[in-house]
Amino acid sequence: MLSILLLASVAAAQQIGTFTPEVHPQITYKTCQKYAGCETRRGSITLDANYRWLHTASGQTCNPGGFNRTLCPDAETCGETCALDGADYAGTYGVTTNGSALSLLFGSGGARVYLLDDTGENYVNFQVMNQEFTFDIDVSNVPCAYNGALYFSEMPVNGGASPTNAAGAAYGTGYCDSQCPTGINFVNGTTNVDGSLGSCCNEMDLWEANSLDTQLTPHPCNVSGEFICTGSGCSNLCDPSGCEFNPFRVSSQTFYGPGSDNVVDTTKVMTVVTQFITDDGTSSGTLSEIKRFYVQDNKIIPNSVVTLPGLPEVNSITSDYCTAKMDVLDDSTAFNVHGGLAQMGASLARGAVLVVSLWDDLGGGMTWLDGQQGTVGQPGTLRGPCTAADVVSDSSTSVTFSNIRVGDLNSTFTAVHYAQCGGSPWDGPTICAEGLSCTALNEFYSQCL
Ligand SMILES: *[C@@H]1O[C@H](CO)[C@@H](O)[C@H](O)[C@H]1NC(C)=O
Ligand SMILES: *[C@@H]1O[C@H](CO)[C@@H](O)[C@H](O)[C@H]1NC(C)=O
Ligand SMILES: *[C@@H]1O[C@H](CO)[C@@H](O)[C@H](O)[C@H]1NC(C)=O
Ligand SMILES: *[C@@H]1O[C@H](CO)[C@@H](O)[C@H](O)[C@H]1NC(C)=O
Ligand SMILES: *[C@@H]1O[C@H](CO)[C@@H](O)[C@H](O)[C@H]1NC(C)=O
Repeated sequence: MLSILLLASVAAAQQIGTFTPEVHPQITYKTCQKYAGCETRRGSITLDANYRWLHTASGQTCNPGGFNRTLCPDAETCGETCALDGADYAGTYGVTTNGSALSLLFGSGGARVYLLDDTGENYVNFQVMNQEFTFDIDVSNVPCAYNGALYFSEMPVNGGASPTNAAGAAYGTGYCDSQCPTGINFVNGTTNVDGSLGSCCNEMDLWEANSLDTQLTPHPCNVSGEFICTGSGCSNLCDPSGCEFNPFRVSSQTFYGPGSDNVVDTTKVMTVVTQFITDDGTSSGTLSEIKRFYVQDNKIIPNSVVTLPGLPEVNSITSDYCTAKMDVLDDSTAFNVHGGLAQMGASLARGAVLVVSLWDDLGGGMTWLDGQQGTVGQPGTLRGPCTAADVVSDSSTSVTFSNIRVGDLNSTFTAVHYAQCGGSPWDGPTICAEGLSCTALNEFYSQCL
């Protein structure tokens, strides 16, 4: 009844349905400073609009596999007829939170979710230049051909809320990425009834991984913010392949994987740190390097050093690494064509929305991440250990991200001289900066001395 009233009262709008009340799962995250320590923030999770039920006032589905063109002959009629409903997070989508932890259970199709700020109306806008972004992750239950991802997209922080988009960020609208997807149901308050609109933006993939393989990838675009395109105008705006760092591909096959033979053991929880280094050490400088560390069993593990012939011996993403990879491994030049690290950095300086998703590719396998791409035996074509035989459907696949924190370089995982590094209860950094050791003064307080 309520939904009928809502439908009647708003003309030509991307509306809100009320069959299921929208209750955002709550989550905490932290912002950290080098000397002042970390502060807990409250946020919540919202499900992407495309995953939601879109229906008429009487409960008829508007897009039963593509829009029903009787209900949705054009964008305006569709906007008047159809409403976006609330989500049963745990029951239908397998999305649950607990304190600082966010778990996604694949179930019948996975999910894509965004982090909202404490108002619940806007996405958190992360600005990570000259900062680091850190999370703990349990990937032990993510097999070949599944991907538990955490990334930044330069989406509008209000989800494109407007007089024609009543739903907005609270209902997960406004998605865009470097693939310029055309399958997004709502684009800037317009119903994308014929799928002609694409939605492009800069994308920084901090984490695309399963328990066998992991990849860190900047994807710059030569547009700022969300850019809506049509047809051939959607080509060449972004770098859809990106300049990836996949340890299995360019470095070591025993750096990351299940079991203690690997440097990073994916059967156990790990901390993942990503640093965005600028050329002048300020947040307004040019992005010059993307660094990665892992922390496991209270030990800092630097990223694996590149060992492929012809590539520079780095363990991070630099412009030299990306250019050499194009030359030596015949990778796409799109990264440099779209401005490379500098352009990625310009986007990160403006800010980005945090996206977490769990998805699969059982059809072809997720070979770009974890398998063989290209001619067997050529350098760089083996990206991971997964073969076609390893691609098996498993609805119990799940991933848990927790303890998300962002702040000054080294502040989210190490503590400075005289800072607290332990005690009960303590959930801040437990590792001291180089040359210091964490010394227990009493049960409640350990200090870096
Ligand atoms: C599309 O909607 C019309 C009008 O409600 C309905 O008669 C028709 O069965 C629907 N088609 C599909 C494929 O659901
Ligand atoms: C939530 O986390 C707390 C602390 O880690 C744990 O004790 C509790 O069992 C968890 N609750 C659920 C429902 O998983
Ligand atoms: C979205 O629509 C509004 C209002 O029509 C317009 O001002 C804005 O430029 C559009 N945004 C994009 C990214 O096209
Ligand atoms: C982005 O770059 C592509 C390829 O270089 C070019 O065709 C396109 O016009 C550019 N778009 C904008 C908005 O700058
Ligand atoms: C962070 O720690 C690393 C390793 O201890 C050190 O080389 C680097 O200079 C530190 N960076 C900052 C900004 O403190």
